[in-house]
This record gives sequence, C-alpha cells and structure tokens, in this order.
Amino acid sequence: MESFTKKYCIITYGCQMNLHESEKLAGILQTLGYVKTEDETKADIIVFNTCCIRENAEKKAEGNIGALKKLKRAKKDLIVAVGGCMTQQQGYAEKLTEKFPFIDIVFGTHNLENFAEFVIAKTESKKHVVAVDEKEGKIIEGTPKARSSFPNGWVNITYGCDNFCTYCIVPYVRGRERSRLPEEIINECKQLVELGYKEITLLGQNVNSYGRDLGNINFAALIRQVSKIQGDFRLRFMTNHPKDLTEDLVRAIAESDKTARSIHLPVQAGSNRILKLMNRHYTRGEYLAKIALLRSYMPDIAITTDIMVGFPTETDEDFNETMSLVEEVRFSGAFTFIYSPRSGTPAAKMAGQISEDVSKERIMKLIDLQNAINREQSRAYVGKEIKVLCEGYDEKKNKYLGRDTYGRMAYFAGKNLIGKFVKVKITKAGGISLLGELVAVEE
Ligand code: 5AD
Ligand code: SF4
Repeated sequence: MESFTKKYCIITYGCQMNLHESEKLAGILQTLGYVKTEDETKADIIVFNTCCIRENAEKKAEGNIGALKKLKRAKKDLIVAVGGCMTQQQGYAEKLTEKFPFIDIVFGTHNLENFAEFVIAKTESKKHVVAVDEKEGKIIEGTPKARSSFPNGWVNITYGCDNFCTYCIVPYVRGRERSRLPEEIINECKQLVELGYKEITLLGQNVNSYGRDLGNINFAALIRQVSKIQGDFRLRFMTNHPKDLTEDLVRAIAESDKTARSIHLPVQAGSNRILKLMNRHYTRGEYLAKIALLRSYMPDIAITTDIMVGFPTETDEDFNETMSLVEEVRFSGAFTFIYSPRSGTPAAKMAGQISEDVSKERIMKLIDLQNAINREQSRAYVGKEIKVLCEGYDEKKNKYLGRDTYGRMAYFAGKNLIGKFVKVKITKAGGISLLGELVAVEE
C-alpha cells in the first residue's frame, strides 16, 4: 500500500457526450486507485477531455493545456493526458505533442475504453503514449463510470454520426453511427432508477435514428421500453435531427408518462438555400411541419434549438429568414453560434465565407430576439406552482435549483432537496430562469 492516495483532476469541454465520457474516465481512474480532486495543483494526473466543434473550444483547451507547463516542470511525476474530439482530428496528435512536448498521454475518442492501459504503461515505462485509432471499433460495454451528475444519469444509446452536415466535424472525430443494444440500455436505466436517480437522459448525436444499424428496433420503440421501467423518474433525450422525427416517435413521446414535455430540435438556419448547403435534408417548411406535428400531440411542449449564423454565403435575406423562423416557432431556448470553419469539412472550402463583423452583428440580433421570447415565457410563470426536480445547489445564489418538465430552471431556498421532486411557487421571472418559494417536497 502506498502511504498516500493518488489524485485525478478531469477538465471537460463540450457537450453532454463529453461530460458522460468524463464520468467513464473518472470510473477508470478510480478503478486504478485514484481519487478525485478539483484542484489541478494537487493532482497526480490531469486529464483534458476536449472538444473541437468550434475553433474557440480548441483555443480554450490549448490555452489551458499550455498553462500546465510550469506545474509539470515543478512536479516531474505529474501525468498530463489529453483525449476527446480534438485529438481525434487527422494529424492533430503530432501537432499537439510538438507544441506541448510535456504531454504524457494522447488518446482519441475511439481509445477511451483503454485509458487504464495507457496510464499503467506511462507509470511503468515513463514513455509517452499516443493512441489515436483512425476507425471506430465495436461498442465496448462495461466501462466503469463514476457518475457526477446525480440526480440525472446519462445513458449512451448511439455513438457517432452518419449525417455529414457540411459544417460539422463530428462524423470525422466520432465515426459512423452505432447503436447500443436495447437490453444494455434498459439494464443501465433500471440500475439508475434503483440507485435513486430521478432523471435519465438518453444520449446520442442523433437519437432519432437509434436502431437503424440493429434493424429490429427504433427510437420510438426504445422510448416505449424505457417508459415501462417502474419508478418515479423523468426521461429526457438528446439530440434530435428534424429529418428523423417521425409521427410514431412523437406519439411515443406523447403517450409516455415518463418523458419530459421538452425536446431539443436543432434547426440551424431558416433559409432553404442555406439548409441545402448545410446538407440538413429538410426545408424550412418541413421543419415547421415537424413543430406543428409535435404541438398537435403535445400543445404545451417546450422546443429548444441550435442556430448558426454566418454560414458561407449567408446573405441578409437568408439571415432574416432565420429571424422570422425564430419569431414564428417561439423556442423555449436557443443555443446560438457563429459558424466556425472546421478543417476537413466541405463548408470550410466553400466560397463566400462571412466576415466576423457581419456574423457578430447577426448573432447579437438573434440573441436579442430570443432573449425577448425567453423573458416573455418566463413572465408567464409568475404566480404559478410548478413541479421541479431539484438537481443542485448554487453556492453563489445560495439557492437550490432544478427544472420543470419543460426544462425551465427555477431557484428556491430549502434544505436537503437534491434528487427530490418539489413544488415551487414562482414569484419572480429572470431572463430565462425563475425564482420561487418551496411549497412542498414529494416523498
Ligand atoms: N461552427 C459553429 N457551430 C457549429 N455547430 C456544429 N458545427 C459547428 C461549426 N462548425 C453547432 C450546431 C450544432 C451544435 C452542437 O453546434 O448548431 O447543432
Ligand atoms: Fe454534426 Fe449534423 Fe451529425 Fe449533428 S447531425 S453531429 S450537426 S453532422
């Protein structure tokens, strides 16, 4: 036995998929005897789980990796590992180790499950490890997970993406779409419910196309199966592709008493010309028809979205079509992005790249519009009593926080509430979130 316990610190960038994969990295490190620390200076191993969806995600990670040089010099045995989407890009691992020679382990998205081997190899031989497989392998089950998102449990259902939207790097760094077997998914969900998790979020780059490679199951059927699991929990899933949202799936969501009344349905743009250039496989009209379909089954469903501005050749007219679509749909929330050219994607080579100034002006207008919609929707909550799953505590605000079935965030005071469904009376509306008073705790 060693006289002290080794510590790990994981720094995560990007999406929910990465957050969950960091739970797997933590699980692997705990199996090796490491314990968690949030303090980089106390860590014996620091792992960066990176993202490359936009240039600023990469810049941020590279900046923070670079900043470790000093610590590494002072602490010779410190292991620095870098994994995730950034390292999976072609030729990137070499670039990274050249730029930051002090990195000990570089591992790709297809190599995460073997992370224990890399740490052991590095500890024993002191040699650098670079493991970035070009192609995805079969799904590997049984990787330990040290979950850190209670009362929400992330559950992977698909890996990779086959859609090749022309701006997006995901299909290149995550490989082809693979679905996990339904029995594996159901077992994991059951375990989570037995452990007291109150929310399950099914994860995939496009959950709607779940099962396409398995043949005998689709996402609607999976929703129906998960909804049959006994227990008091809420079911969420992300992310969705409009082209694969079928009426049967909408019906499965509507008929499930477990599924939250909210859906994330990225639209990206409101102009047909741009949607075509993006290779999204739907028109503005078809997107609006999906919204109408969702609302015909669930009139109150909250719809959130992702929108991009400044895609190559986007004119003011194209952008105005995005604005008018946002006005028309009245999303409950929107993640807005400035298009960022990603090397190796078709859009990066397109003529007509838009200047940063124009893109910035457009995104500000879009944010203003969506903020106004958010405020209006928040105001409508004042005086209402809502059911919220308490998911955390905000130290700065000194309040608990949680979301209702529509995904709207509320803050409230109380005691020992994390993981409980509570009734909150809304007293004040913020920009997007709400402030309320605790009325009751469900047992
Ligand atoms: N530039 C800007 N935003 C992007 N997204 C994906 N690729 C890019 C890119 N190259 C956005 C899309 C997607 C979200 C996860 O990130 O809106 O839905
Ligand atoms: Fe990227 Fe499009 Fe796949 Fe989403 S669906 S991960 S935007 S390629």
